[in-house]
This record gives sequence, structure tokens and C-alpha cells, in this order.
Amino acid sequence: MEKKLFGYMPDGCAVYSYTMKNGKMEAEILTLGGIIRRLEVGGTDVVMGFDTIDDMLTDTSNQGALIGRYGNRIKDAHFFIDGKEYKLYVNTGKNNHLHGGKYGFNRKLWNAEVKSENELVLTYLSPDGEENYPGNLDVKVTYTLYEDAIGIHYEAVSDKDTFVNLTNHAYFNLNGADGSKILDHVLQINADTYTAVDHELIPVGREPVAGTMFDFRTPKRIGQDLHGTVVTDPDFGYDHNFNLTGAVKETYDGKELNVCAVLSNGKLTMTTLTDQLGVQFYSANFLEHPGIQFKGGVELNRRMALCLETQFEPDAPTRGENLLKAGKVYVTDTVYRFE
Ligand code: BGC
Repeated sequence: MEKKLFGYMPDGCAVYSYTMKNGKMEAEILTLGGIIRRLEVGGTDVVMGFDTIDDMLTDTSNQGALIGRYGNRIKDAHFFIDGKEYKLYVNTGKNNHLHGGKYGFNRKLWNAEVKSENELVLTYLSPDGEENYPGNLDVKVTYTLYEDAIGIHYEAVSDKDTFVNLTNHAYFNLNGADGSKILDHVLQINADTYTAVDHELIPVGREPVAGTMFDFRTPKRIGQDLHGTVVTDPDFGYDHNFNLTGAVKETYDGKELNVCAVLSNGKLTMTTLTDQLGVQFYSANFLEHPGIQFKGGVELNRRMALCLETQFEPDAPTRGENLLKAGKVYVTDTVYRFE
């Protein structure tokens, strides 16, 4: 594994990059946000990202980063544990919380330890009260580069009851990070239901996918049925959680995982495997910032990539679900496999 100085944070702290190679795969991971900055499959870089730390810190789309403490939205930016209210930072909609708040895990410097040539362990201790979440939370994320996949193993343990929902926010385009749109990629998602949302993207309950634009049970061109899903934006697209209950299972590196989604551009196929029961399919609807450029000078544009963020169904804290009890270990695995 190759370690390099990547640059410096505004406060002068160094950011390092770690590059692993295995067969046709090559991955570059940063200690800033645990960002997957580059993921090459047979020479094609399939993830979007930025060249400079400045751009990464200005970015609000969380390119390639680890998301925490709580991925996705929490309605009214608060939750209760044992009757006590915890107020969270409002950073989406009128009054909601998204992806861990103002300074989520995507903005943190992680400690890195090379476990083997193809395994990088990142750790971060999120102090009690950070972003107003309770408990000192010890987080450990292991990136493993296989000959045909990248695996992400998440672990976290807190000394107080708390809410945690970790994921990675890579933006994939199997054509390469060249600015082309993903509308012609073909996607299959093994979900019979999805989580319907209101105009602020807050869950309102599960709905069957049958007969809707959310039906990806058989492979479908992403652009085929894509139309407005939010009243204020007639062309909004997908930003929804799909429920993987009933998905077929497959064993990868000894772990039994749900076959969550299969994405293809006709040349490359990416299979997302996870032990989670939810995946947020986001068609990069908000990525539209003329003048801002990705690595290689590519202009940011809507639908130039997509995210498949494996996670709990959004807004679980509001429903009092998925509480991580003090001392219990939160563990989850996701694998993105390429052929
Ligand atoms: C959310 C989007 C959000 C994006 C960038 C996705 O996970 O669902 O609504 O714009 O992340 O933060």
C-alpha cells in the first residue's frame, strides 16, 4: 500500500492518501472523511471526486465520503432517548437534519492503519455531544480491496445509548468520471417496496414499487421512467430508500449479504452487496453547480453519477428504531463488486 501526503487542512493538519492495488482494482482513500477519491476498475475510474482539499471542504454533496453519525434525514432535527430530547443541526429542508449535521464524519480527519497490503483501517472517536449526539462513539471502518471488489466494514460502539447510521457516499459512473450522465446505465434493485417521502424527502411510509417509476425488480434503463418526484421540481428524479427485505443472498468473503442492486453500462457491471435492509438510490439531482469542477476538470452536472448508499431506512430515530445501546457493537458490511 502506498501512503502519500495529499495536502493540508485549513488548520495545517496533514491529509494522507493510501493507494491499494489488487488485480484489476485500484483504490485511493483519503484520511479526510475516509473519502474514496479514486476507484479504478481495469483502468476506468468509476467514482467522482475532487482534486483539492479546498474543493472537498466546499462540496456539500459528500463525494465518496463516510457519512455519520447518522446517514440520511431526521425529521424536525431531533430525537428522544429515554424521554430526553436531543436537538440536531438543521441542514436540509425547513427544519430537518441530514448526514450527521454541520461537521459530519465526511469532514473529519480519520486515523489510518495499514492492516495488510489490501486492508486499510480508519478510526475516529466522535466525542460525547458532537453535533449534539449522545455518547463517545468509537468508529472503525475497514476498506478492503479484493481482486474484483471494494469492501467496507463498519463498526461503532458508544458509551451511551445513541443513534448511528453509517454509510459511504460514493458517486458512481461506470463510464468513468468523464461528465457523461448515468441515464443510460441499466439498474436492477431487489426491492418490492420503497420508502415514499414528502416534498422535503421525509419518509411517509412504504409503498409497493409495482406499477411505479420505482420498479427496478427487472433491469431497467435509469432514464426510462425517471420523472419528477418532488412537487417543486418537475425533474427531480430518484432520492429514495428501497427496502431489500426478500432480496436474494450471496456469500462474499465469508459474509452472507443481500444482493442489493446490479448496475451496468453494457461493459462493466457493479453488484452492491450488503447486510443492510435499505439502500438510498440517489440520481444526483442536486449536483448542478456551473463553474465547479471535478477531478480532471470535469464540470459538475445533474445525473452524472449515482449513489447506492446502504443504510437503515431513513428517519429511524423519529420512529424510535435502531437505537444503538451503550456497549453494543454496531456492525455492518457493504461490498461493491465489479465484473
Ligand atoms: C441525499 C440527497 C443529498 C445528497 C448529498 C443523499 O444521500 O439523499 O438528498 O442531496 O445525499 O448530501
